[in-house]
Amino acid sequence: MLVIIFYMHYFFQSGTAGAQMRNITILVGTMTGTAELVADEIADSLVGEGFDVQVVAMDGLDGLIFSDGGVFLICTSTYGQGDVPDNALGLYEHLEHSRSDLSNVRYGIFAMGDSTYDATFCQGGKMFDQLLTKLGAKRVGDVQEHDASSGTMPEDEGAKWVVDWSKLI
Ligand SMILES: Cc1cc2nc3c(=O)[nH]c(=O)nc-3n(C[C@H](O)[C@H](O)[C@H](O)COP(=O)(O)O)c2cc1C
Repeated sequence: MLVIIFYMHYFFQSGTAGAQMRNITILVGTMTGTAELVADEIADSLVGEGFDVQVVAMDGLDGLIFSDGGVFLICTSTYGQGDVPDNALGLYEHLEHSRSDLSNVRYGIFAMGDSTYDATFCQGGKMFDQLLTKLGAKRVGDVQEHDASSGTMPEDEGAKWVVDWSKLI
């Protein structure tokens, strides 16, 4: 009897974890909407790969967005002198001043920038990467950078890149 209870516990636990891995929240940091467009294209790709996806603008968010753990994709541009966009500032600062334990969070980064800003290229995405790692979250894959001066479209690059990224989850 005990063995059956243990087995059922294990079955439902791993089922829940498996379901959580199929669920991805894309958090969007943007100033003029490009990252939102990219996030939508990335979401379409992920849905095509069989994932459940929510695209959420960072406006008004705080660290509580991570409280249930799960898989997140940060899709953010860079502004100012290597800062996160204005709509991402609240979330970034809340996390920075919290002592959240994000060890149940896995995340990827699609960082958008422009290489003409040599010293701060894609800094917004890199800042989120460093902060999430510091809080115990585990990065899936490398930080993916997109250069607005490359002549490629970030939404096309993002949609292609995320297919391989999703296989690492
Ligand atoms: C005023 C301004 C400042 C910027 N600063 C940076 C920067 O420091 N580093 C960087 O890599 N890109 C920088 N960029 C480029 C943007 O991150 C890039 O164009 C991005 O694709 C914009 O996406 P968004 O529309 O989603 O905000 C800057 C762009 C502008 C207009």
